[in-house]
Amino acid sequence: MKIAIMGAMPEEIAPILEELGTYKTTKYADNDYYEATYHGLDVVVAYSKIGKVFSTLTASTMIQHFNCDRLLFSGVAGGINPSLKIGDLIVATKLSQHDLDITAFGHPMGFVPGGSVFVEADKDLISLSKEVAKELGKTVSEGVIATGDQFVHDEKVKKNIVKHFNADALEMEGASVAVVCKSLDIPFFILRAISDTADTDASFSFDEFMESSAIISAEFIMKMVKKLAK
Ligand code: ADE
Repeated sequence: MKIAIMGAMPEEIAPILEELGTYKTTKYADNDYYEATYHGLDVVVAYSKIGKVFSTLTASTMIQHFNCDRLLFSGVAGGINPSLKIGDLIVATKLSQHDLDITAFGHPMGFVPGGSVFVEADKDLISLSKEVAKELGKTVSEGVIATGDQFVHDEKVKKNIVKHFNADALEMEGASVAVVCKSLDIPFFILRAISDTADTDASFSFDEFMESSAIISAEFIMKMVKKLAK
């Protein structure tokens, strides 16, 4: 087993690299990839840069070039479900691209021919996250994550995303990573800790809480990796 551990921003993987301690850095496709062994398990860590295009490239690279056979994503998200507060963890059960729009041709939002509105995450990895949550005595929500190339900071945009996808949280990479993993038949898991609630204050909240929420997510992911190593 070789695990890809991905984030989008440096802050999302910094706590992971710190936990690894030592690692080998390889430059490939205009990015840095960090290879290490963690409790006997081979891991490859990288941050993609923000958005669907960069995250697609990084996920594909980790699977096709570095031969990873599981992918775990750790990072932050904007909360939509009012029950989600800053720092809360949410596991994606399924993900959708909220900005994929060919409704002009009668298709639902998020759909293109040959694809599907939602991509489901791996059930075994979700079960593993439940075990870890139980052991840590942590509450981890499960829900729909909507992804788009847009930092959402507007109630109307949020409402629209709820209307079309019944999403609980939104971010900018999960669904593109999901499409890559599904296409290449690689089990994947997307974890996010809430940094803001995608409203008019979102950019301020993000600046204040992004780093602390990224740490919450990264620490949980590494507990999962430790369990996978056993
Ligand atoms: N990631 C964290 N907060 C976000 C937001 N409000 N919109 C998009 N991606 C995010």
